[in-house]
Amino acid sequence: MKNIFIFGSSGHFKEQFVWLKDSIKASRQKIEIRGIIDDKNYNKIDQLTKLKIYKSNKIKYDKNIFIYIAVGNINIRKIAIKKFSNFNFFSLNHPSAIVSEFAKLGKATTLSPNCVVAGNAKLDDYNNLNTATIISHDCHIQNNNSFGPGTKILGNCKIGNNNYFGGGAVMIPGTRIIDNNTIGANSTIVDNFKSNFKIIGSPGKAKS
Ligand SMILES: CC(C)(COP(=O)(O)OP(=O)(O)OC[C@H]1O[C@@H](n2cnc3c(N)ncnc32)[C@H](O)[C@@H]1OP(=O)(O)O)[C@@H](O)C(=O)NCCC(=O)NCCS
Repeated sequence: MKNIFIFGSSGHFKEQFVWLKDSIKASRQKIEIRGIIDDKNYNKIDQLTKLKIYKSNKIKYDKNIFIYIAVGNINIRKIAIKKFSNFNFFSLNHPSAIVSEFAKLGKATTLSPNCVVAGNAKLDDYNNLNTATIISHDCHIQNNNSFGPGTKILGNCKIGNNNYFGGGAVMIPGTRIIDNNTIGANSTIVDNFKSNFKIIGSPGKAKS
């Protein structure tokens, strides 16, 4: 039996908890959600789910324990990835998500309801796709990127690590961004960008 501890108890968690249960049900495996991990809010019972909240150092490695990261913020996701680097991670794969038979997904992926990963898109590890995110053919997405609801990454885009996309952001075909960028809600990337920018507006302009 797999036992899941969910990292994070914020608004993201409140949405993802239900999708996680849908994903577990669809998998037809024996998987139990055992609790929540939150280093700022532990030794309590979460009022929404009635799950116990633990401090991260209380969770000891076991091959049957899986960590699920229910956090959108890139820096907090980094903390979870580092703290639990020797643990197994769980991927949420909502039954309404559509994944091409040619797509490749790495570990600890979140596919929220109505996501589409099309064609031969490749996602490395720890990527978080909120509702109705679309990743198109020939895209390559590296590690720990977070996509807000309705993000559209069109064909042949390249994305590095630790980028955060606000809801409704668009990358037009063939564009590239590297690491640690924040893309505003409803902003459109029409050029290539390197690292550490806020890219805002349509067409998106960089602010460092
Ligand atoms: C881009 C973003 C991160 C900027 O946040 P910030 O650094 O606090 O920036 P500010 O709010 O100070 O705004 C800076 C300027 O950009 C403008 N701006 C901010 N976000 C914008 C957006 N998405 N589109 C167009 N303009 C935007 C502001 O109006 C402001 O303009 P001004 O300088 O002329 O006054 C934020 O506005 C945003 O879009 N976040 C995405 C949130 C989201 O979708 N999360 C998903 C949750 S699941």
